[in-house]
Amino acid sequence: QDIEKYGWENLSQREQEEFTMKKDMLASFNLENESWEEQQLNRVKRKVEDKPKPELEPESEDESGYEYDSDQAIEFDETETIPEQDVEDDSKLPVMLHRKQLMDLVKHNQIVIVAGETGSGKTTKIPQFLYEDGYAEHGKIACTQPRRIAAMSVATRVAQEMNVRLGGKVGYTIRFDDNTSKETRIQYMTDGMLMREFLTDSEMSKFSAVMIDEAHERTLQTDVLLALIRDICTVRPELKVIISSATINSDRFSSYFGHAPVYVVPGRRFPVDILYVKQPEANYLQAAIMTVFQIHLTQDLGDILVFLPGQEDIENMAESLQETKLRLGNSIKDLLICPIYANLPSEQQARIFEPTPNGARKVVLATNIAETSLTIDGIVYVVDPGLVKEKEYNPRTMMESLVTKECSQASANQRAGRAGRVCPGKCFRLYTRQAYEDLLQPESRPEVLRVNLAAIVLLLMSFGVSNVFEFQLLDMPTPEALVKAMQTLYQLGAVNGAGKLTKLGRQMAEFPADPMLAKVLIASGTLGCSDEIITIIAMVGELGNLFYRPRGKKEEADFAHNSLSQPEGDHFTLLQVWFQWSASNFSYQWCRDHFVQHRTMKRVRDVRKQLFRLCERAGIISDAQANDPNAIQKALLAGYFAYTARLSKSGDFYITQGTKQSVWIHPSSSLHSRKPLPKYVLFHELALTSREFMRGVLVVEPEWIRQVAPHYFKQVEERKRPVLR
Ligand code: CDP
Ligand code: MG
Repeated sequence: QDIEKYGWENLSQREQEEFTMKKDMLASFNLENESWEEQQLNRVKRKVEDKPKPELEPESEDESGYEYDSDQAIEFDETETIPEQDVEDDSKLPVMLHRKQLMDLVKHNQIVIVAGETGSGKTTKIPQFLYEDGYAEHGKIACTQPRRIAAMSVATRVAQEMNVRLGGKVGYTIRFDDNTSKETRIQYMTDGMLMREFLTDSEMSKFSAVMIDEAHERTLQTDVLLALIRDICTVRPELKVIISSATINSDRFSSYFGHAPVYVVPGRRFPVDILYVKQPEANYLQAAIMTVFQIHLTQDLGDILVFLPGQEDIENMAESLQETKLRLGNSIKDLLICPIYANLPSEQQARIFEPTPNGARKVVLATNIAETSLTIDGIVYVVDPGLVKEKEYNPRTMMESLVTKECSQASANQRAGRAGRVCPGKCFRLYTRQAYEDLLQPESRPEVLRVNLAAIVLLLMSFGVSNVFEFQLLDMPTPEALVKAMQTLYQLGAVNGAGKLTKLGRQMAEFPADPMLAKVLIASGTLGCSDEIITIIAMVGELGNLFYRPRGKKEEADFAHNSLSQPEGDHFTLLQVWFQWSASNFSYQWCRDHFVQHRTMKRVRDVRKQLFRLCERAGIISDAQANDPNAIQKALLAGYFAYTARLSKSGDFYITQGTKQSVWIHPSSSLHSRKPLPKYVLFHELALTSREFMRGVLVVEPEWIRQVAPHYFKQVEERKRPVLR
């Protein structure tokens, strides 16, 4: 209640959400709640009561920024040191020193597991070894990565090392971006893209060698890929397979692959001191900013790597660091701020790898992509808030969402290890030692155990796996999770009552998209509104990155956003944004005038083009004109029927159709302040912050569901029918 008194409304939406989230998280950390709440409160008080001193910040309109304040220095406890590891000849990457033994092992074995410290050269060098040893003469060499950005960045680096054009001998393939050609011999790709190869080529005959990299990450796609490759190996004895991972769990991979040999590349690492905060920190972004400046002002030169959960945090922190840096001016050494995330233009991504100029310090802001997938040389300090953003299936809402949660101990230790590659380093953990011991899980759970399996089950069925319950994965999902996936597919009409794939299901599997989205696209063809639907789909995934409200211009921005807002809801608003932007000839100025992110729109334009091509190839685009005035809503409902909610009796919140969950319209939605609220809505996703919020909300009529999703309707009716004894 105090926080309300001290200006809850003075905090931005984001801060409110963050505060509540952090509160929940720390409550689950179960530490001295009082003290951190007080801390947070004091910071809010300071913010509201003592506006920043004018001589320090002349043009400050700062109401929502995070800032460095030397009076609030964070205290750390130094507790332990990760010991030094063998330092061999440090002029060469470790895998180079082991090339001969490693390649001998590959020659004599079909499957080899390679385990090695991050940065030892596995990803960049092993595909080149394979190439140089002639394994690309009868097919391509594939190397998979769980993340798009790693696939792109590593391919770029290897093309440079081999002195060839990217997209020529060395290329990469990620969803919506294929940068390969006939010439390509070494193909970096996401694990999901290689998995899709099975749709058209069940023996992967284009490839003569496959390296499944970062296998320890255990993404859903990697796990499925491992299972499929295990089968292929029996029919293609000449195929070479390398499974590479950080130094965790290599034995499990080995036993899964019939006790394949494990080759351990000894790493080199200097000792790393681990420091924990003495008191739990209320706000990890604020704490991370403080720590970066504390390091910058008190520690020897050496670059800093900060692990943040997501793009939004990275952008915010980069902005705050920049502001503080300007404020401190020449009184400090130069600090280069380098954010990295998948949506950043590639020239800017490349900056993180550029050597730091003499006398300056670089601070890299990354997600856990920098944990093992990307190695950045020169890092001496790591700042680790101990958080990660993960896809998680929520059994309560029966939906999947991205949640920020504490990372595992294994992750925390990987992160710390990044500090010791060039010299002894330090890792600043923004959580207490007690939290590390009591609350961090030893290891992350494989994705297959925590996400919705509908997409993967659909794909497996279209690969010809007749019984998904018998498909042997490294970790088996529960039968309930598989049943749930089958149910979803049945409701979507992708499988029939006998559990067999339908024609529609086969068509859906061809889309590199979630089955719900695939269904929407297919329905749009029949309803004659593919054009609009393709635009909406390309845009709706960017909801969080589209509109912005700069400091000091919030009202102006709100006004511009309101002018775009449509009565039907957010999907139509997005369509309106697209129409106006394309009418302006895709102008930058239009985006500025309307406070819309130009780079997001450029991305939307690319994705839209790709989706269009996919739909054309699948024969979905018809010349049919939409006769139905509600065609767009119906097409969306055809896939999202389960993501619908009815207005509660009190008229201020909603109840979801299937699970009877209470949900609210997200404040950023076009429908948020509508009076009275519409009776029925469809939503794109649920975002759990202080409440369960619906994002991407559209007005719909319940009768439409019956028309476009008869299977779903049947099930709901059956559930309602009283059980006869
Ligand atoms: O895969 P692993 O972690 O074993 O190492 P790697 O990614 O192959 O990295 C080997 C070396 O290449 C490291 O010193 C990286 O800093 C460097 N590298 C780079 O400078 N730029 C890239 N885009 C990728 C790697
Ligand atoms: Mg690697």
